[in-house]
Amino acid sequence: MGFLNKLFGSKIKEEETMTEKLNIGIILGSTRQGRVSPQVGQWVKEIADQRGDANYEIVDIADFNLPFVGEGTGEEPGLKAWSEKINSLDGYVFIVQEYNHSITGALKNALDSAREEWNNKAAGIVSYGSVGGARAAEHLRGILGELLVADVRTHPALSLFTDFENFSEFKPADLHLDNVNGMLDQVVAWSGALKTLR
Ligand SMILES: Cc1cc2nc3c(=O)[nH]c(=O)nc-3n(C[C@H](O)[C@H](O)[C@H](O)COP(=O)(O)O)c2cc1C
Repeated sequence: MGFLNKLFGSKIKEEETMTEKLNIGIILGSTRQGRVSPQVGQWVKEIADQRGDANYEIVDIADFNLPFVGEGTGEEPGLKAWSEKINSLDGYVFIVQEYNHSITGALKNALDSAREEWNNKAAGIVSYGSVGGARAAEHLRGILGELLVADVRTHPALSLFTDFENFSEFKPADLHLDNVNGMLDQVVAWSGALKTLR
């Protein structure tokens, strides 16, 4: 047995690593008081959890109290916790809201607050805004390229006018369900494939 372990041990360990469930973070992009992003993130998580193909968790930027890049001491506990959290995840789903035709300052700062931790992972985008948050989502794709994050094509885009009541109560149309699952199919496939590079 000892001999076999010596011979095949590392191979078995490698195979175990490849078949372990992936960890996917659903990152809430806004920290605004009264924000709707937790409702959208929870909806995505409920759909994701029914699939059983990965461990999905909500990651709330607001929990980390990140300083603006370069303005803190670099020793803030939230900064270390953020780096560890991003590092621990195999892939991401960004919940993106459109602010002045782009992503929020909070999300940009959170993206800038880590570097190698993002590399060789995959990401999906779920966005919302008056035109589905499309302009913010496209800005995010450019940023993800610089961070070596492979962003998938399928992109559920929610309307502030028809998927929310009074712009505050999230009531998504049924048609988005297939898109969320299609996006998750791609995130899980690419997150797994990129594991070979990490
Ligand atoms: C500063 C600011 C700028 C905004 N700019 C846009 C915009 O350019 N396009 C758009 O569709 N919605 C815009 N909105 C509306 C937001 O997308 C909407 O309030 C959304 O609920 C914000 O997400 P949150 O509630 O999760 O923070 C803006 C909202 C704020 C607060």
